[in-house]
Amino acid sequence: MISQQTIQQILSRIDILDIVGSYVKLKKRGANYLGLCPFHNEKTPSFTVSPSKEIYKCFGCGKSGNSISFIMELEKYSYVEALKWLANKYNIEIEETYVSEEYKQIQQTADSLYILNQFAQKYFTQQLHQSEEGIDIAKSYLKERGFTDSIIDKFQLGYNLNQRDAFSKAAVQEQYNPDLLLKTGIVTNRDGHLVDNYRGRIIFPIHNQSGKILGFGARIIGKNDRAPKYINTPENEIYIKSKILYGTYFARQSIDKLDECLLVEGYTDVISLHQAGVENVVASGGTSLTTDQLRLVKKYTNNLTIIYDGDGAGIKAALRGLDLALEEGLNVKLVLIPDGEDPDSYVNKVGADAFRDFVNANKKDFIIFQLEIQLKDAQNDTHKKAQLVNQIAETIAKIDKAEDFTKQQDYIRQCSQMMGIEEEGLTNLVNKHIREKLQKQAQKQANQKGAQDAFIPPPEDDSFVLPMDESEFLLLLNKDEQNERALIRCLLEFGLKPWDESKTVAEYLLGEINDNDLVESANLKHIMEIYEHWYKEGLEPTAKNFFYHEDQSISTLVVSIMDFQHEVSAKWSEHYDGKIATREDLYPLEIKSCLTYSKLRKIRRLIEENQRDMANTTDFEQQILLLQTHQHLKQMEMDLTKLVGTVIL
Ligand code: CTP
Ligand code: MN
Repeated sequence: MISQQTIQQILSRIDILDIVGSYVKLKKRGANYLGLCPFHNEKTPSFTVSPSKEIYKCFGCGKSGNSISFIMELEKYSYVEALKWLANKYNIEIEETYVSEEYKQIQQTADSLYILNQFAQKYFTQQLHQSEEGIDIAKSYLKERGFTDSIIDKFQLGYNLNQRDAFSKAAVQEQYNPDLLLKTGIVTNRDGHLVDNYRGRIIFPIHNQSGKILGFGARIIGKNDRAPKYINTPENEIYIKSKILYGTYFARQSIDKLDECLLVEGYTDVISLHQAGVENVVASGGTSLTTDQLRLVKKYTNNLTIIYDGDGAGIKAALRGLDLALEEGLNVKLVLIPDGEDPDSYVNKVGADAFRDFVNANKKDFIIFQLEIQLKDAQNDTHKKAQLVNQIAETIAKIDKAEDFTKQQDYIRQCSQMMGIEEEGLTNLVNKHIREKLQKQAQKQANQKGAQDAFIPPPEDDSFVLPMDESEFLLLLNKDEQNERALIRCLLEFGLKPWDESKTVAEYLLGEINDNDLVESANLKHIMEIYEHWYKEGLEPTAKNFFYHEDQSISTLVVSIMDFQHEVSAKWSEHYDGKIATREDLYPLEIKSCLTYSKLRKIRRLIEENQRDMANTTDFEQQILLLQTHQHLKQMEMDLTKLVGTVIL
């Protein structure tokens, strides 16, 4: 992990105008800068950068964030990759720190698995090209299917001999660790001996996006009903099936360029299409698509075209995952390959040009396609049709991003025509589903209490709107939590200032909060803990460092805490020598006031609890004890109330 020191060094150098400015031409407008949004197509600029807040927001597409999220979004980097990019830009040396033992262990295993897989791939490739058995049986089979030498090389195909333990022996001889070997799935344990798992099979290495080998698919040669056609790597530290699409490494540039990703079922489909010059293609392995896989596609394009054979079970599996695709904002099209062919056999039969023409001519919108099949299925059954209307409304409601409004309208028009119902009726139904969804979301947000992106109102002037409607959000909070937030805000804002001769505000405040357990909200507690941790490390935990926290929920929460409107109360300024006071001048007072409020609340709660206990006990001695506690608490309450006279709540 990159050390917090390095991160802060990077953050202190970040200039959002410089970073965004190297991608977007910016013009000054008021306190902010304006340019054409790099995340969507627009002719009039609505992409705004606030140098003082160090954030950007596009009022066209709604994207917003800070310098790091900008780099992450534009370059498709992870958080760590973005930091590394920035460190490089500003010539900052990266210092790695302690990582948890568990994490280290996983990393080490992952690294070892990559190394082992690479060794195995080299071994299998060698067997394919150099062993007699490989050449006679495997290579000739691949040739028969039309694969060229160069495509076999490109995809690093291989072969494992039809022997008990040919690979196992080779690996053990190279001193690879048996436990790790078992994890790769290439070998298995038979009565204490390592034996090969993929005997007499063609080996398809499966690469990650940067070309490292995650695992293998091992295909039986020819037809054989007695054994599974493919054996795949079992799940391990690096092979996580739900996150993998076969072929991304070879397809990503083409997908980016053509702004479309083709999805097929099998390894051989991908390879044959590549050979024919269709390179923007990946495979799912015939299962339903997962959210992780869809996000992988979305890194490169919004346009997903699924090409499956029409009568296979695969198409049904693929359709199952597709509502997820709508939620991810992908445009999904479907093409069915006719007459029992699959993409591999079809492109071999008709050639690359005809294949491409066929795909382009037969692309069907996924929603329309789904409706067509189901209408056929429902025929004249009105009950089924009514269900269908409801279901299609729900699907259309999933496209409810502002920019997709016309798309939604189009669907409503087309679908109502197909189903023979009034457009208005379907519109109402769609709206009902949208409302339900929004209600559920609002409910969830209220429950979480923490700050998430709520509805963002359109800008009325030049001013910068933060990705949250504070006034709405505040209504959700009770006074106790508001006070807890105020405490944390004091910590963030004034923590490094002196409290008295011997302590900083942070030292005083953290002591008070911890001793009296004054913060109850788990989210706020978390922020406090991070603060304390950074403080003890000698770092400067300012709000800015939290804005850039890796965990989005923390940065959003801190943004919302810091963006409260803080007015100096009229009464406070009276207390301050007649000078017009600012919050800066008055921070000790503000801190005292917040602490007093929190303590008082706490005492009052304890009093209530104590009274309840008194009412519930019949034991005399117990009652005496509780009574003493009561008196003690009452005294504390009184002392605090006197204090309240001098500070304002
Ligand atoms: N698959 C699998 N296990 C099986 C069968 C299929 O994992 N027993 C996965 C593989 O990823 C395979 C995909 O499903 O690539 C599609 O299956 P299929 O169409 O049967 O295989 P193809 O790749 O088309 O192989 P071939 O063209 O050689 O028949
Ligand atoms: Mn096939």
